[in-house]
Amino acid sequence: MNERRVRRMTEADLDAVVEVGGGGTREGWDRQAFADELASAVARPWVIELERELVGYLMTWRVADELQILHVAVRADQRRAGLAQDLLKHVLAHEDTDGATGATLEVRRSNVPARALYASLGFTVVGERRRYYQDGEDAVLMTLFIGAPYLAGPPSP
Ligand SMILES: CC(C)(COP(=O)(O)OP(=O)(O)OC[C@H]1O[C@@H](n2cnc3c(N)ncnc32)[C@H](O)[C@@H]1OP(=O)(O)O)[C@@H](O)C(=O)NCCC(=O)NCCS
Repeated sequence: MNERRVRRMTEADLDAVVEVGGGGTREGWDRQAFADELASAVARPWVIELERELVGYLMTWRVADELQILHVAVRADQRRAGLAQDLLKHVLAHEDTDGATGATLEVRRSNVPARALYASLGFTVVGERRRYYQDGEDAVLMTLFIGAPYLAGPPSP
């Protein structure tokens, strides 16, 4: 048992996604915001299921060769079981195969669980954005190199 599955989010997931909630991120991810992402050309929203039940989601944008991570959440009663890590690992591997060379994100300075999650995946702090959030809190900027095609040499003319 403990069957986990990562797949892309669809309209049919919206109720379950809203139920997962963001648990204190204060970033205003309501039903409409998720629906807007589903309709966006750059958005790549994902979900993770546990025993066929949706228990987490990951909102990303793919912009050129960069994956931008907007938001990740796991249902409060399923946290600390490696679900967010599994979800992110799956998506990072998928993006690697699809030519992404890096991933970036902003996270609240005070969000210890999220910062630890990203660090556990190899993300490093590369900067900060002062008073980035509406309530005045700073954002920490984190980056992960996914693949490095430039190491193979300069592109052919
Ligand atoms: C952040 C969040 C998505 C983590 O989800 P999760 O499924 O519980 O995370 P995982 O179980 O995969 O944790 C992986 C690693 O992250 C770190 N981590 C996760 N939660 C942590 C916590 N509460 N405190 C410290 N470290 C934590 C640990 O290193 C953990 O590995 P370990 O359990 O072996 O020590 C979840 O807490 C959540 O939904 N928070 C509310 C939404 C949010 O803040 N999202 C981020 C905004 S960008």
